[in-house]
Amino acid sequence: YEPELVIELPPAADFHVHLRDGEMMETVTPTIEKGGVNLVYVMPNLVPPVTDPETAIAYMAKLQRLSPNTTFLPTLYLHPSITPATVAHAARHGIVGIKSYPRGLTTNSDSGVLSYEQFYPVFQAMSDHGLVLNLHGECPSTPAEDVAGIDDQDITILNAEAKFLPTLLSIHAAFPDLRIVLEHCTTADAVEAVRTCGPTVAGTITAHHLFLTIDHWADDPFCYCKPVAKLPADRAALLAAASSGDPKFFLGTDSAPHPRLAKQGRASGTAKTVAGVFTQPYAVQLVAEAFDKVGKADRETLEGFCCRHGREFYRVAEKGLEDAGKEKRRIVLMKGMGEKVVGEVGNGDSGVVPFRAGEEVWSLEW
Ligand code: NCD
Ligand code: DOR
Ligand code: ZN
Ligand code: ZN
Repeated sequence: YEPELVIELPPAADFHVHLRDGEMMETVTPTIEKGGVNLVYVMPNLVPPVTDPETAIAYMAKLQRLSPNTTFLPTLYLHPSITPATVAHAARHGIVGIKSYPRGLTTNSDSGVLSYEQFYPVFQAMSDHGLVLNLHGECPSTPAEDVAGIDDQDITILNAEAKFLPTLLSIHAAFPDLRIVLEHCTTADAVEAVRTCGPTVAGTITAHHLFLTIDHWADDPFCYCKPVAKLPADRAALLAAASSGDPKFFLGTDSAPHPRLAKQGRASGTAKTVAGVFTQPYAVQLVAEAFDKVGKADRETLEGFCCRHGREFYRVAEKGLEDAGKEKRRIVLMKGMGEKVVGEVGNGDSGVVPFRAGEEVWSLEW
C-alpha cells in the first residue's frame, strides 16, 4: 500500500475518556497511546463515583502504571458531599475539573445531579480556584411508563440536550469566569449555544458523533450512546464546528467501553443495552477521515481540534508536547493503507467491540 495522504501531528489530547477500573481498565488503558494520544482527561463515573481528591489521585496512579507515557488529568464527580472546602482541597491536589451527571441518565449516574442551583456555592469556589465544570448536557427523560406525561416537558433522548441548553446559559450567566465544557455536543443547537457564550465556555465533540445519526443506533447497540446521535443536519453542524478552527471546540471522545455481552443485552438478564461507544484506539484516525469528507483533513485544522484547542482551554498547553519539540515526536496519519478496525479489544469478560469493527480506517503510526 502507498498512502494517498500523509499528515504529521503532535501527539493528540482527549478531553473526555472513560477508563473504568479493574479488568476493563487494564484492557483499555494501554490503547490510549496506540491511538496517538498522550494526554487524557479521565471521567470519574466509577462504582462508587470518584468524589474526593485522594481517591482521584490514587486512581490516576493506577492508570499511570498501565500507561507510563500518558498524562492523566483527574476529575471529581459532582455530588452533594462536595463542598466549597472540597474544591479548595481539590485545587491544592491538582484536580483539574468536576463533572456533573444528571441523575439516572447514563452509566453510573445514580448519584447524579437533580438541581444545579444547589451547587452554586461549589461553582463559585470552582471559579475562584480555576477548576473546570464539565457538563453532561441532558435533561432526564419523562418516564416512558408515564403515558399521560407527569410533566409538560415531553423530554426524550432526542430533545434532552436541547432542553438542557438554558441550564448551560444560566450557569454561565451566573459564573461568567467559571470555565465550563459542554461535553459531547450532539446538536446544531448545542454548537450554537457554545458559540453564543463567552470564551470561558467550550464544547467537546466525539469522533463517533461525526459519523452517526439516529438511524445507526436505532438497530445497532454498538452505535448507542448518551447523548444519542441526532439528525444528519446536526451531524453536519458538529463536523463544521470541529473543522472550523474555532478554539471553542476540541476532541473529547467519550470513548466508553462496555463488555460486548452487556452491549448486546446478554449480561443483565433484561435484554437491555447500555450506552457507550468505544473509539479509543482509533479516535484520531476517525476524526481525520471525517474531516477529509469535508475537505478539511489538513495538518492545521486537525492539529487545532485534536492537539491544541483543548490543551489551551485547560491551560495545560505544554503537557504532552514539551518534549515533542526536542525529540520531534510526531504521530503520522495515513489515508488508504487498507487497515481495518479490529473485531474486539481484549477478550472474555472485558472484551470490547470498537466502533466500526471490521471496517477500513486511516492508519496511525508513531
Ligand atoms: C493537604 C490538603 O489540605 O490538601 N494539605 C495541604 O496541602 N496543605 C492535606 C491533605 O492532603 O488533606
Ligand atoms: O454513552 C455514554 N456512556 N454516555 C455517558 O455519558 C457515559 C458513558 C459511560 O460511562 O458508559
Ligand atoms: Zn488532601
Ligand atoms: Zn462520558
